[in-house]
Amino acid sequence: MVQWGSAIVTGAGSGIGRAIALRLGADGYAVLVNDLSGERAEAVASEIQRAGGAATAIAGDVARPEDVAAIHAAAKTSHGGDVALLVNNAGIAHQAAFENLELADFDRMFAVHVRGTFLMTKAVLPSMLARGEGVIVNVASQLGQIGGIELVHYSGAKAAIIGMTKALAREVSSRGVRVNAVAPGPINTPLVLGLSEEWRERKKRELPLGRFGEPEEVAATVAFLASPAASLFVGQTLGPNSGDVML
Ligand SMILES: NC(=O)c1ccc[n+]([C@@H]2O[C@H](COP(=O)([O-])OP(=O)(O)OC[C@H]3O[C@@H](n4cnc5c(N)ncnc54)[C@H](O)[C@@H]3O)[C@@H](O)[C@H]2O)c1
Repeated sequence: MVQWGSAIVTGAGSGIGRAIALRLGADGYAVLVNDLSGERAEAVASEIQRAGGAATAIAGDVARPEDVAAIHAAAKTSHGGDVALLVNNAGIAHQAAFENLELADFDRMFAVHVRGTFLMTKAVLPSMLARGEGVIVNVASQLGQIGGIELVHYSGAKAAIIGMTKALAREVSSRGVRVNAVAPGPINTPLVLGLSEEWRERKKRELPLGRFGEPEEVAATVAFLASPAASLFVGQTLGPNSGDVML
């Protein structure tokens, strides 16, 4: 097992984040498992430990500066030093026709996805720049590329993440920090399994691959972007999306 250093995965108590945390743990990272739900974060950290990896759980809301400071501090104290890899994955789903979209839902969507990515990145970037190395992977969505019906707030937040990824990559790559994103298509997680059977069947038929992705398949893309094999990938948005969006 190669020891890559320490990684933070936000929203890692479920779905894609959980799969990323498990994969990074198996790859030899010491993983700081964050989730809004401390119970879910603990369960995933225990899974990593049972598989022989190193992990620590911490509850926290990535939209709150004080929680972000605690998440960053926990990563440094638990895993002996600076963070090598940050995966900004925490996210929420909410759907509303634009006429019915409330300001509070719009604000929360941007708080979790955009403010959360901003705050977490602000926390870890200085030490990455000081060391001259580090990797950041942001979890966007194909709906940030093509838009989704009744998802102005979600699509807008995910498009913002793609823009932030490109802008930061331009700014810091020459100083040793690689920043990229993934924009998954429909993936079998609690978030998508909560949608209607009818929608899922219709969506499946639209996909060139004919099936939704599994969280582990997104985790494999993140693990690639984190690895030295992705040394030329800068400001990119990779699409593990069953062929739904082809750019
Ligand atoms: N499932 C899909 O089809 C799909 C497709 C494209 C993108 N995504 C994105 O992937 C990411 C993970 O989604 P998922 O499908 O695994 O969802 P999920 O609901 O299974 O998991 C999301 C996790 O994030 C946590 N979380 C929510 N708000 C948080 C906050 N403020 N701070 C910390 N943790 C928080 C939740 O508690 C939950 O455990 C999200 O950013 C989502 O937008 C999902």
